[in-house]
Amino acid sequence: MNKAKIAVIGSSSMDLVVTSKKRPGAGETVLGESFKTVPGGKGANQAVAAARLGAEVYMIGRVGDDSYGEEIIANFKKNGVRTEYVEPVTGIESGTAHIILAEGDNSIVVVKGANDYVTPDYVERMSSFLQTCDLVMIQQEVPEETVAYAAKRCSEMNVPLLLNPAPAREISNEVVDLATYLTPNEHESAVLFNGLPPKEALKAFPNKVLITEGEQGVRYFDGEKEVLVPSFKVEVVDTTGAGDTFNAAFGVAVAESKEMQESIRFANRAASLSVTGFGAQGGMPTREEVERRLSE
Ligand code: RIB
Repeated sequence: MNKAKIAVIGSSSMDLVVTSKKRPGAGETVLGESFKTVPGGKGANQAVAAARLGAEVYMIGRVGDDSYGEEIIANFKKNGVRTEYVEPVTGIESGTAHIILAEGDNSIVVVKGANDYVTPDYVERMSSFLQTCDLVMIQQEVPEETVAYAAKRCSEMNVPLLLNPAPAREISNEVVDLATYLTPNEHESAVLFNGLPPKEALKAFPNKVLITEGEQGVRYFDGEKEVLVPSFKVEVVDTTGAGDTFNAAFGVAVAESKEMQESIRFANRAASLSVTGFGAQGGMPTREEVERRLSE
């Protein structure tokens, strides 16, 4: 089988992760337990996950001209992600995500830094390359107009676009229509569809909108009925990056022309394995691991 060729337009960041027993409330100081710096950013996470799952992956992104930027690029190379379309931005710092892991979940503040320089112009410069891809993936840690532009260009070039609308923000109906797949979680779905109940949102976009419901699984409407593809039970270490792994695995599967339900099952298996390791990328599985666990 030929490798799926995927371009990820998106953010690359350094994740600054603190673990703590308790999440501080407003005005409160608590003592944490550990601090680690690990590669992250939704775009970079999706690129690394897709590469581990066997795709030929090209990152379309920006880093700062700082040591984080160098580490981010080195991490792409280590994971087999192609970096010829990742350009440092002079005088600007790399994106960072400030993460607290406490009480079984994460809270994140993202400072976009160089990710704000993934502009429509930048995408346009890469467009003849994008045209050669089986799939383009994008998220929302880059400017809104970049997402809109990528959706328009991918549609014009007839390249499928997987838009992961995270973090949540409103998107125009036009962009929703132009995307091939949209993968909100329940909160993102409410923002995206103006509070429309999930059932109605799914029905309005058969085989296009997939709502991820964490431990429950993933729901979509197949044209006749709503389908819930259940997730897999695992010991959770760190949920950061689970959504990114889901998106990457789903993207790899559909780019390989797998059916919807099979693609979601493959992605659920990959995402469930990803939460068993520390850091957004720490638990991301290889293709072999996912296939072995699916066959058990
Ligand atoms: O989706 C997880 C990612 O979101 C983290 O790696 C962090 O960078 C934040 O942007």
